[in-house]
Amino acid sequence: MEFKSIVDVKVSRATGCAVVGIYEGGDLGFAAKYINTYTQGLLTRLQKSGDCPGKLGTSLMLPDPEGVSAARVLLIGLGTRLNFGRKQYRKAVQAAAQALGKSGASDAINYLGLEEIAELDWQYRARIVAEVFAAHAYKIPHLKTAKKIPKPALTQLSVAAVDRQAATDANVGLKIGTAVSSGMHLSRDLANLPPNICTPMYLSARAKQLAREWSSIRTKIIDERGLKALKMGSFLAVSQGSDQPPRLIVCEYRGAKRGKAPICLIGKGITFDSGGISLKDPSAMDEMKFDMSGAATVLGALRAVAELKLAINVVVIIAACENMPNGRAVKPADIVTSMSGQTIEVLNTDAEGRLVLCDAITYSRRYKPAAIVDVATLTGACVIALGNHFSGLMSNDDALAEELRKAGLRADDRAWPLPIGEEYVDQLKSNFADLANIGGREGGACTAAAFLSKFAKDLTWAHLDIAGTAWLGGSQKGSTGRPVPLLVDFLLNRGSHG
Ligand code: BES
Ligand code: MN
Ligand code: ZN
Repeated sequence: MEFKSIVDVKVSRATGCAVVGIYEGGDLGFAAKYINTYTQGLLTRLQKSGDCPGKLGTSLMLPDPEGVSAARVLLIGLGTRLNFGRKQYRKAVQAAAQALGKSGASDAINYLGLEEIAELDWQYRARIVAEVFAAHAYKIPHLKTAKKIPKPALTQLSVAAVDRQAATDANVGLKIGTAVSSGMHLSRDLANLPPNICTPMYLSARAKQLAREWSSIRTKIIDERGLKALKMGSFLAVSQGSDQPPRLIVCEYRGAKRGKAPICLIGKGITFDSGGISLKDPSAMDEMKFDMSGAATVLGALRAVAELKLAINVVVIIAACENMPNGRAVKPADIVTSMSGQTIEVLNTDAEGRLVLCDAITYSRRYKPAAIVDVATLTGACVIALGNHFSGLMSNDDALAEELRKAGLRADDRAWPLPIGEEYVDQLKSNFADLANIGGREGGACTAAAFLSKFAKDLTWAHLDIAGTAWLGGSQKGSTGRPVPLLVDFLLNRGSHG
C-alpha cells in the first residue's frame, strides 16, 4: 500500500473513494458538508430516512454518487463531536479500512483528518492512518495448503490536509506510521511462526538478515561455547534440556556518533516454553510459541529505527532458547551461577524468562547504556493484573518509567506502572543461594520484575511485561505486534532529543 498526503479542503479531487465523517445526531463532518452540497442534499435525505451512520465505527458505502468527483463516498460514523479524540479517530479510521477492504476501490482519500481532533497534530493523524491500514492488510504467514490469500484491491491511500504545512507534517507521520507498521509486521511474522520453524537459530538468521538489509545495523551471534565463556550459567541452565542450541543475538544500530551511550533493548526469546521439568498444563500450551514475543518486538522496533534513520545508538540483545524437559534439563532445587556472579536457586523451571534475561542484562553493561528496557512475556500474573489492555511497566528510574508510559499513550499501545522494591525482593529469599527464582503466587508480576532489578543495579532500567498484550488467544489467535508502537515512539523522542 502506498501512502501520500494531499491538500484538498473542498473534497474536489478525483478518487476511487472519498472517506468522510458524520457525527451522531445528524451533525455532518467537515468534508461531509461538501459532499452534501455537491449531491444536492443526499446526506440530509439519508439522515431523514435513518440510513446515515453516526455511531462511532459504523459505515455506509455510497457507490457512484452524482455530482461528486469521487467514484464512491464512504460515510463513517464519528460518534459525538464533543467526544471525538485520538481513540475515536483511530476507531473511525479502522472502520474505513474495513469498509474499503470490502470495496473494489483501488485508491481512496481519507478526509477524516480534516475534523477537529484536540489531541492530535497532523503528524499523528497521518501516522494513525498508515498504522491502521497497514495492520488491516496484515496476513498471517500461513502454512495452509491450497487456499491462496486474495490480494486486496486498495493500493493507494491519500490523506487530505488543510494546507501545505499540514501536508508536509502528514508526510512525516505517514513515514513514521509505515516504519512502525513494518516493524510490527516483522514482529508478528516471527511470533506467529510455529516453534519448529522459529527456533533460536532461525531468530539468529533473521537478525543477520536485518544487518544485510540495513547498513546501519551490525549483528553478532554468540553460540553455546561463547555463552559458556561469558559464564552465562543462568541462561545456559534454561537451555540445557533442549535439543535446540541457544543463541545470544546482538544487533547494534548506529545512528549517532560512536561515543554516544546507546539504548539497550533486551528481548526474551524463549521460542517454546513447555515449562521444563515444572511442566505446564497442556491447555493452551501451544500459545507458548509466543514466548519469544519480546525478542520479536525488539527486532521490529530496531527495523523501524533503521528505516527512520534515527539519530541515536541502539543495541538489541536477545536471549534465545527453548525451555524443555529431558534427562539433562535443569531441575527444581538446582543452583546456578549467573553471569553477574549471583547464585540462583531454581525452584520452578517454568520461571525461566527471568533466568535468561538476568544474564542478558548483565551482558548489556559492556555498552555503558544510557538506558535499558527489557521486553518479556514474563508472567501469567501480569495478565491477571492488567488483562490484555496494558503492558506491565516496572523501573528503577521514575523518569524513564514516565517516558515509556507517555510513549505508550501517544502510540495507543499503553503500559501501566506496577511496583518493585525491597518488599518484593524479600519474597525471593532462598536458604541455599543468593536468591530464588520464584517468590510465591502473590504479586507474581512484581516479584519477577524485582528479580530482574537485582541484576540492573546502577543501570537506568525498565521492564515491560507483555504477557497479556503480545498476542490474542481464541478464534483471534495471533501476535499483536505490541509493544512495537510504544518502543518506536519512545526511541523517536530520544532521537529528536539528539
Ligand atoms: N512465559 C510464561 C508466562 C506466561 C504465561 C505468559 C501465560 C503468558 C501466558 C513464563 O515463563 C512463566 O511460565 N511464568 C510463570 C512463573 C511462575 C512459575 C512463577 C507463570 O506466570 O505462571
Ligand atoms: Mn515459563
Ligand atoms: Zn516463559
